Amino acid sequence: MDERNNIVMVTGCAGFIGYHVAKRLLTEGYRVLGIDQINDYYDPILKRARLRMLKESANFSFIEDALESREVLDNLSTQESITMVLHFAAQAGVRYSLTNPYVYGKSNLEAFIHILEYCKVRQIPLLYASSSSVYGGNQKQPFSEQDRVETPISLYAATKRANELMAYTYSHLYQLPTIGLRFFTVYGPWGRPDMAIYKFTDAIMKQQPIEIYNHGKMKRDFTYIDDIVEAISRLMNKIPSSQGSHPPYKLYNIGSHKPVELLYLIELLENELNQKAVKTFLPIQSGDVPETFADITELENDINYKPQVSIEEGIKRFVAWYKDYYKIT
Ligand SMILES: NC(=O)c1ccc[n+]([C@@H]2O[C@H](COP(=O)([O-])OP(=O)(O)OC[C@H]3O[C@@H](n4cnc5c(N)ncnc54)[C@H](O)[C@@H]3O)[C@@H](O)[C@H]2O)c1
Repeated sequence: MDERNNIVMVTGCAGFIGYHVAKRLLTEGYRVLGIDQINDYYDPILKRARLRMLKESANFSFIEDALESREVLDNLSTQESITMVLHFAAQAGVRYSLTNPYVYGKSNLEAFIHILEYCKVRQIPLLYASSSSVYGGNQKQPFSEQDRVETPISLYAATKRANELMAYTYSHLYQLPTIGLRFFTVYGPWGRPDMAIYKFTDAIMKQQPIEIYNHGKMKRDFTYIDDIVEAISRLMNKIPSSQGSHPPYKLYNIGSHKPVELLYLIELLENELNQKAVKTFLPIQSGDVPETFADITELENDINYKPQVSIEEGIKRFVAWYKDYYKIT
């Protein structure tokens, strides 16, 4: 897509991934309409700081509201020439979904229907965030888009899988082009404070114990944020079309294809922070899976891209950002 006068809607633009994608689009000359409710799932100060940077661009406009309210999209001026919707707004977090189920209904299901309806009426292609968590209890590694995904093991994962099924229905019924992005543990500067890399860094710096689940026997296919952004930027030019009886519907794993042992990750952080971690080993938590591993053949075939940033380099860049943000010398 290269229509610089048209507007791309980015929901969840004050969030980690939405912010980085919106920033990239603005740098490329797109106009961006951001929507975010700025909830307090984690420190809103971080969200507002991201937002301030986006607002530096004259091509950025912003609506602060919750997408489970239909009016937010209904009230958008029909004059707005929105040509694509990138939907990242959602309640993230596997563990949080065990204790706060209702917010997932509102933010991940109700809001998703509003987005689908908005795109359907205007026939605007939709790219939306799914998650590697949809693979749930699957044993076969690496996880492929062709695998059956019927065993989500958290409500969060179930809502993400539901999004994919809902998107399929709209692609089938209304020929709405949709692309679901199955992200694999994204990290990097301006990252999420509730995720392991950020939490560990914080605790190691404060010499507080870190909780290591499944007694350290965990692997994650960590994916650096710039690689996610690059893949999304390329996929924006790869909008699916109907092929015979196949609706314009695609799903992509976006992962590094390189699972990293949790204990190795901690070693990298210790080296970068010049500080030993105090480790508390715990059993695996409900909802968690011991390993994620992305098959990225589809991504490589369709956009000729695979993630470039190694975990060693990515951790360096994250820690540099963390120290700068918290003014640690
Ligand atoms: N970060 C990852 O590793 C990862 C992995 C898999 C999937 N995802 C998915 O990618 C998307 C972006 O994740 P992120 O890491 O940037 O999360 P994030 O929490 O930083 O960003 C989500 C943003 O959406 C906003 N939001 C939440 N509910 C909303 C609602 N109902 N209306 C309007 N705004 C709302 C929040 O305020 C937040 O700023 C999410 O859909 C998440 O589930 C993320």
